Amino acid sequence: MKPKWLLVGVLAVVIVATGRTVAAAGAGGNDSGAAGTPTFTKDVAPILQDKCQACHREGYMAPMSLVTYEDARPWVKAIKSRVASRQMPPWHIDKTVGIQRFKNDRSLTDDQIDTIVRWVDAGAPKGDPKDMPPPKQFARDDVWGFAEMFGPPDLIIKSTPYTVPAVAQDAWYKPVVETGLTERRWVRAIEIHPSTVKGRKITHHALARLLQDEPGSRELRASSAADDDQTSAGLFMEWAVGKQGEIMRPNSGKLMLPGSKIVWDIHYHAVGDDITDSVELGIYFYPKGQEPKYRQVLALYSSIAGGSRNIDIPPNSTFVSQAFHVMKQSGRIENFQPHMHLRGKGMALEAITPDGKTEVVSYVSDYNFNWHVNYVYDDDAAPLFPKGTILKVTSWYDNTASNRNNPDPNQWVGYGDRTVDEMGHAWINVTYMPDEDYLSEVAKRKAQQRATTPPPQ
Ligand code: HEC
Repeated sequence: MKPKWLLVGVLAVVIVATGRTVAAAGAGGNDSGAAGTPTFTKDVAPILQDKCQACHREGYMAPMSLVTYEDARPWVKAIKSRVASRQMPPWHIDKTVGIQRFKNDRSLTDDQIDTIVRWVDAGAPKGDPKDMPPPKQFARDDVWGFAEMFGPPDLIIKSTPYTVPAVAQDAWYKPVVETGLTERRWVRAIEIHPSTVKGRKITHHALARLLQDEPGSRELRASSAADDDQTSAGLFMEWAVGKQGEIMRPNSGKLMLPGSKIVWDIHYHAVGDDITDSVELGIYFYPKGQEPKYRQVLALYSSIAGGSRNIDIPPNSTFVSQAFHVMKQSGRIENFQPHMHLRGKGMALEAITPDGKTEVVSYVSDYNFNWHVNYVYDDDAAPLFPKGTILKVTSWYDNTASNRNNPDPNQWVGYGDRTVDEMGHAWINVTYMPDEDYLSEVAKRKAQQRATTPPPQ
């Protein structure tokens, strides 16, 4: 047991530290030089630029701009509460378990949260205007950014235009559009964005899924999602603010087949003006005849035991289900994108390797239907698994009143397409590879880890 005096000592240190903070705030006022009191210009503005302004700036989908001090000042209470509860920025992965390195991590570090909270608690001082960083320059998202590298997209596919009235409920629009492709082509990059600048305001999110009939993708999912009626080759790309597009890894690509279609799933919301817009997908092919060695296949991994239609959630209750998928080839898991509706609460992806070990790959513990976040693993964090690995997907649902997104806890909920029905699956992109390539990837990864781990003392 720890001696009591030690505990008292620790408490005293905390009090001293806090006392200093308060004293500094009092003495320093708006002076950013005061140690311990964060100011807007010096400490907070850089965080907002980095983690918030992609959405919170003029013309984008968030309800208010967080660019200048005057923009942010009226919102400080809400900012503190959303940031401290990790609801903003939208990033719902559990930070205590599973892989934590992502290509698109927009979450705040503990230090950044602490800075914002202390800034608000200190009365949200502005600080010295000289400390204000220059405005952040964002990449233009109304042009094809990869055109500089590859020339203009080889194929542009537009969703059917949709009008969002000034006042309306959120809509999930799902038109299907032919690609017009008459031959097999390998894709090396994809970009997606609303067709007009105005459209960015109403387009909360857009997903484009490639629908094509091929025996391979059916087989991949046959293990447990046998009754899933979608036989697509997976999600092509999503439009998310702040994300320009996706270039495939070296020597990898997605294969598009003749007669393929794009199934759109666009989340529109009303912003007080009638706005009509569409979303455009720009596709860059590998030159004809050039075949990448690895094929990326993005497929739906059900979390519902016995098939996706087996969701059965009585009123005022919770529900959990899990399903298992065997990897028939070795490969690298590139991402994790859980999909549930309003009762969805959490989803976990675990891997049971042939040696009997189970590891948590990712766990989204605070699922929110408004945000279809795609968690894309860092190059050297994307897990490698041997043939025969079982991917286990678990989903949790909360159909009680304590789920604040629940429109009606007194309803029975089953499988369905409407947001008041439920679903349970993850979109997972796997790069399959022959065993010898898998083994050399694993060896490379180990060497990397050795190089970055300091030797024992
Ligand atoms: C990916 C886009 C995105 C990012 C990044 C983002 N927000 Fe938001 N934010 C939104 C949207 C959309 C809403 C409105 C819907 C909602 O409340 O969830 C919102 C709502 C909010 C609200 C609530 C406003 C109200 O009406 O009470 C606050 C506060 C907020 N954001 C602060 C932040 C802060 C601070 C950051 C960065 C640390 C941030 N957001 C990052 C999109 C974003």
